[in-house]
Amino acid sequence: MQESKFITVRDLTVRFESRERTVNAIDNVSISLNRNDRIAVVGESGAGKTTLARCLVGLTRPTSGSILFNGKDIHRGRHSDRKLFRKSVQVIFQDPYDAMNPKQNILDYLSMPLRFLVGNMGRQELRNKCAELLDSVGLQEDLLNKYPHQLSGGQKQRVAIGRALASDPEFLIADEPTSMLDASAAAGILNLLKRLADDREMGYAIVTHNMGVASYTADKILVMYSGKIVEQRGTDALISSPMHPYSSVLLQHAPRSIGVMFESGTAKSNRTGSEPAEVDPWSLSGCRYRKLCDRAISVCEQAFPPLLDTGKEGRVACYNPLKYGQK
Ligand SMILES: Nc1ncnc2c1ncn2[C@@H]1O[C@H](COP(=O)(O)OP(=O)(O)OP(=O)(O)O)[C@@H](O)[C@H]1O
Ligand SMILES: [Mg+2]
Repeated sequence: MQESKFITVRDLTVRFESRERTVNAIDNVSISLNRNDRIAVVGESGAGKTTLARCLVGLTRPTSGSILFNGKDIHRGRHSDRKLFRKSVQVIFQDPYDAMNPKQNILDYLSMPLRFLVGNMGRQELRNKCAELLDSVGLQEDLLNKYPHQLSGGQKQRVAIGRALASDPEFLIADEPTSMLDASAAAGILNLLKRLADDREMGYAIVTHNMGVASYTADKILVMYSGKIVEQRGTDALISSPMHPYSSVLLQHAPRSIGVMFESGTAKSNRTGSEPAEVDPWSLSGCRYRKLCDRAISVCEQAFPPLLDTGKEGRVACYNPLKYGQK
């Protein structure tokens, strides 16, 4: 019998329909995550990263396909299995302030999941637990009496991570956790996530448009382009020798060191300056990257390339990939 992975995404499609256009924000994606994986999902704005993250925690329902947690569908089956999933896989978003009630102090904000998970607790016990959560994200207990607007961006993101830790999760999904922070706060958050993963044997998936952030935090990188995974490789292999032309462009635009990672030159866009006017990739038949690709060949017009094994524990979706050592 095949061993069930921690999280398995099977043929996932999420379609958004509006009067103007129909978008498969996620288009037939299949991936597996192990419990201790440290993954980065990288791609430019609109690639489908947030939609994928929301699906992975059950916040967005797939149009088709399924997400299995320890082999069980996260939207079906027994209540106890779904409850375990909700405890085990937590998420934090780009702007922690969005999730906070400005009228609620940090003690109340952190107490909510604890009350739900642990049930009735005395006031002092609850306060001690909240202080422990703050301590685990490098913050002092005196923050408990403060309100969100009294905290810096980095402190708010740390509080959000602390709250996600209340259920002692096995896996954390972080959607652009540093993109609203200055360089030093951002570096602090990334180092915190790495330390928590070490100390708690917790896996994570970081969603980012920044290849520098991805390579700093992840063992494996998934590169997304217009709802598709176009490359999935070990970080070192992908950084030293990208196979998909789009990954190569992202890397050319990536900052080289953590010091400059959050400043100019992030991979917000794959535009290289000399391309034709904006192309809506969803309107293209065949490979959606082909109009921007300097390696496109005639077959790229016919169908989106399948994501195939590279033979070295990786997958790439390209009819004319870069070969090892080619840039
Ligand atoms: N609720 C929605 N309704 C309609 N379209 C949506 C919705 N959410 C996302 N989309 C569309 O789906 C596509 C993918 O969006 P998504 O937010 O997942 O991208 P992203 O990679 O996270 O981008 P960013 O880097 O800007 O956060 C985009 O074209 C977006 O406009
Ligand atoms: Mg997003």
